[in-house]
Amino acid sequence: MTILKATNLAHAFDYPLFSDVALSLGTSESLAIIGVSGSGKSTLLHILSTLLQPKSGTVELFGENIYTLHNNDLIAMRRHDIGLIYQAHYLLKGLSARENLEVASILSHEAIDEELLKRLGIAHVLEQKVTELSGGQQQRISIARVLTKKPRLIFADEPTGNLDSETADEVMTIFYDYIKKHESAMVLVTHDETLAFECDYVYRLENQQLVQVT
Ligand SMILES: Nc1ncnc2c1ncn2[C@@H]1O[C@H](COP(=O)(O)OP(=O)(O)O)[C@@H](O)[C@H]1O
Ligand SMILES: [Mg+2]
Repeated sequence: MTILKATNLAHAFDYPLFSDVALSLGTSESLAIIGVSGSGKSTLLHILSTLLQPKSGTVELFGENIYTLHNNDLIAMRRHDIGLIYQAHYLLKGLSARENLEVASILSHEAIDEELLKRLGIAHVLEQKVTELSGGQQQRISIARVLTKKPRLIFADEPTGNLDSETADEVMTIFYDYIKKHESAMVLVTHDETLAFECDYVYRLENQQLVQVT
């Protein structure tokens, strides 16, 4: 089943960022987007993940054209089907780590996966306020929060940026296991080519074009 299909995307801020961008992704597949800083990777991810309407082109998620959907349907899709893991992790700072996970659990009607928390190495810090945790621990809480809602599609922008290489490898393994087990899919933005080439497909954004590498 096709989970994501983008056609003919173009976007510009002060100058053109990219045009003619097309890609598609099916169940249990992963796709990486690489490219130098400033090439527009994060902008493209925002467009693919419902956050930014492109200047032209279409994005279909789960067969729905997202930028013509009714607002309530788009909100429901964001809440239940899409997992966003961005560089700035939007944890609720006044709450404990566990309370952050409980919010995700309540909103999505999905249970917290205690086994996942152990694998992420955060089971022992759940009662602490998120502001008391290290950057890497906060990153892993935000990953746990996103996976708690059992998304059908994950968008991750440098999700392992704050992690040491061993933890980064474990986190990526958790993502790959997750998308296989839950018939989900993942779009990963990274500057780390080693991580990128573990995905099923790799695309490079350069010279305003998205070129498939593998
Ligand atoms: N909201 C915005 N308004 C104006 N310019 C922006 C905005 N977001 C990004 N840009 C510009 O678009 C270019 C690409 O940014 P970005 O998509 O973040 O690239 P990357 O993630 O590849 O580093 C940069 O020059 C950036 O300054
Ligand atoms: Mg970026």
